[in-house]
Amino acid sequence: MPIKTLISYALFGGAFITDLKTTGSVIPSSPFLGRRMAAGLPKDDDGLVVELGVGTGAITKSLIESGIDHDRLVAVDCSEEMVRWSQKRFPDARILLGDASKLRELLASQPDLRDRKVSHVVSSLPLKSLPKDLVRAIADEVEEILPPSGRLVQFTYDLRPQPDPHLRQFHLVESSVVWCNFPPARVSVYQAA
Ligand SMILES: C[S@@+](CC[C@H](N)C(=O)[O-])C[C@H]1O[C@@H](n2cnc3c(N)ncnc32)[C@H](O)[C@@H]1O
Repeated sequence: MPIKTLISYALFGGAFITDLKTTGSVIPSSPFLGRRMAAGLPKDDDGLVVELGVGTGAITKSLIESGIDHDRLVAVDCSEEMVRWSQKRFPDARILLGDASKLRELLASQPDLRDRKVSHVVSSLPLKSLPKDLVRAIADEVEEILPPSGRLVQFTYDLRPQPDPHLRQFHLVESSVVWCNFPPARVSVYQAA
């Protein structure tokens, strides 16, 4: 296993031990999960793709490989260590330190992003383990920034096919399980209702 992968596992494991509810997983997502997340995005527009919960960049890598230009990608995480790691890993992408519940404020703090439209949001946030009030605030922020055609792609380790109750304001478009991940995960694609 490459040394960089080992270090990213150690970083993730350390963050999990320190704050398991915020980190949500003991290891980074697999490339299979990353590719399924990226596949949930339409490729025919040019607005920003906002990634919530960048971690060590497992999903970011798949988004870039799927053809999303660095210039269109804005990734956010509330962990300084994760942001520092991902900034080194993707020096051309915009990786911001901040809380997803303050997303509009965070985007507005970047002068060159203020006038850019957001097309889609991809989220690895552990919605099931974060405090309910925080999840409500995050869902409201995403609802505010997404246009009517905008997609929210979210994964969860809860394999049941029902839409996430925290995301009631969105309409579930498609959902499938990725078994090649530890643990297996369900990827759900929502549309702004
Ligand atoms: C399950 S990890 C996913 C990391 C990576 N995308 C992956 O799939 O391997 C969740 C990430 O969300 C971040 N996170 C949790 N709550 C957050 C919040 N309120 N705002 C921004 N990031 C948050 C954590 O720091 C962690 O890096």
